[in-house]
Amino acid sequence: MTSYDVGTLEEFVEGVPRQLHVGERVLVAVRIDEQLYVLDDRCSHEEFSLSEGDVDLENAEIECARHGAMFRLSDGAAVTLPATRPVGHYLVRHLEGRLEVELP
Ligand code: FES
Repeated sequence: MTSYDVGTLEEFVEGVPRQLHVGERVLVAVRIDEQLYVLDDRCSHEEFSLSEGDVDLENAEIECARHGAMFRLSDGAAVTLPATRPVGHYLVRHLEGRLEVELP
């Protein structure tokens, strides 16, 4: 497990997905309130970038802009078709005012 500094919470706009390049991975980060969620930036249906989609703040889900599948931000689960498989999700830790994402 390796931790990567991804900045501070204030650098993320609530509900606006932001693509992150961390290590070898392309990720999508979404802030809701004081929480930052990080998933793989690749829909499990047809490998479309999730960072182009809209966020459902109430349910803490992100929509794939291509065919409309919804993914739960807390664990990457596919909650609506046409996606059926989850996307990778990663733990974010708050450390002395900064955010660290842990990657395997
Ligand atoms: S590519 Fe994401 S739902 Fe089809």
